[in-house]
Amino acid sequence: MLSVENNELLTRTGSGTPMGQLLRRYWVPALLSEEVAEPQCAPVRLTLMGESLVVFRTADGRLGALEEHCAHRQASLYYGRNESEESRDGQCGLRCVYHGWKYGIDGRCIDMPNEPATSKFKEHIRIRSYPVAERGDMIWIYLGPSRDIPALPDLEWAVIPETHRYLSKRLQRSNFAQAMEGGIDSSHVSFLHSDARLWNPDWTHAKDSTRDHLTDDGSPKFFVEPTDYGMLIGARRNAVDGQYYWRITQWLMPWYNLVARDGDGPITAHAWVPIDDENCWAFSITYNPDKALTKEQTDHYRHGGSVHAQVLADGSYLPTRNSDNDYLIDRTLQKTVSFTGIRGIAIQDVAMQESMGRVVDRTKEHLGSSDAAVIAARKRLLAEARALAEDATVAPSGLDPASQRVRSASAILPRDVSWVDATAESRQAAQRHYQPS
Ligand code: FES
Ligand SMILES: [Fe+2]
Repeated sequence: MLSVENNELLTRTGSGTPMGQLLRRYWVPALLSEEVAEPQCAPVRLTLMGESLVVFRTADGRLGALEEHCAHRQASLYYGRNESEESRDGQCGLRCVYHGWKYGIDGRCIDMPNEPATSKFKEHIRIRSYPVAERGDMIWIYLGPSRDIPALPDLEWAVIPETHRYLSKRLQRSNFAQAMEGGIDSSHVSFLHSDARLWNPDWTHAKDSTRDHLTDDGSPKFFVEPTDYGMLIGARRNAVDGQYYWRITQWLMPWYNLVARDGDGPITAHAWVPIDDENCWAFSITYNPDKALTKEQTDHYRHGGSVHAQVLADGSYLPTRNSDNDYLIDRTLQKTVSFTGIRGIAIQDVAMQESMGRVVDRTKEHLGSSDAAVIAARKRLLAEARALAEDATVAPSGLDPASQRVRSASAILPRDVSWVDATAESRQAAQRHYQPS
């Protein structure tokens, strides 16, 4: 359990909070590239850690991320016109449709048509602009101090060929931390996802090993190794012939996790990003660093298979199975082939995590030995947020791209073999992905 004070510290991410300050030191996975796919596309409205922004791609292909509201009288630039050089001022930018003030991607006001042509007023007007970048079919935004801007993340899924990955996004109506804790806590896989073979064809090749190990031993012992990027987590289950079955995952500062890889199959990654303190984006990525995903795989993910969720077509990214319809829980299914009666791995996770309340009251928890990794991640985040709040020159961990080049694994090992040593090689991301092209 956590004290009231620590629960607040962990979950509050506004700009004045210690956790908000820590999280603002990292590039934020903010949008799928497809949301601003075309030059001069419609602006996208987006809230990150309580800050409202608009993101757009200019007619000449550059990305802009601006505070949402116009400096004049605070109308939303979401309704604005994304104009090309052929406009009256000859520049690309976003024009407010209330009185026509227009902004460049640097936030400077470049046209103010409701003031006299001789006026110099516009030269004094600037709204907040945020650094924005694109990598791995993801739009990344940096909300922190400009002097501290880090290198873009070198997470393996973001640097492999686009044919090798599939990304999806869904809205989760809970605080980011409890969503992320679900990603770290792999002991629930033996229960909540025990029907996963129904939803995840990527596991069929492993049906006689992975699934059976997971269901045969539902009380894994957790081992946590602190690392420069975050934590290496080993979940140990008993396997046949006196061996251990290890599922080895990483949690990377401040909001990423990798799910254990089965053999040479695809890897699942997640990013849990605060929208505000009661909602988060869950980005899910399935990737194979070694080969392209097949059309069959990506079709399956697109239809809500594996860890991906089908979402409403209204742009909200709210899953079609959501708390308004009790996730379409099927009690007959629950009595027969499914532990939960809820269809799909992602929705099983969402149902449990949202059912805890928007911001779970961690003073009421009773944590056991299988919660070791969750406890360690909390401690790490709390310690780093406190350290930064006390001394703004402290460098948060996990910002070095070289440290992020890791991947998850699984292994069956004799009992006397070190899981860390035995899997060292298979946990390295392939160096070829980082060669300058
Ligand atoms: S509010 Fe935007 S131009 Fe007036
Ligand atoms: Fe899960």
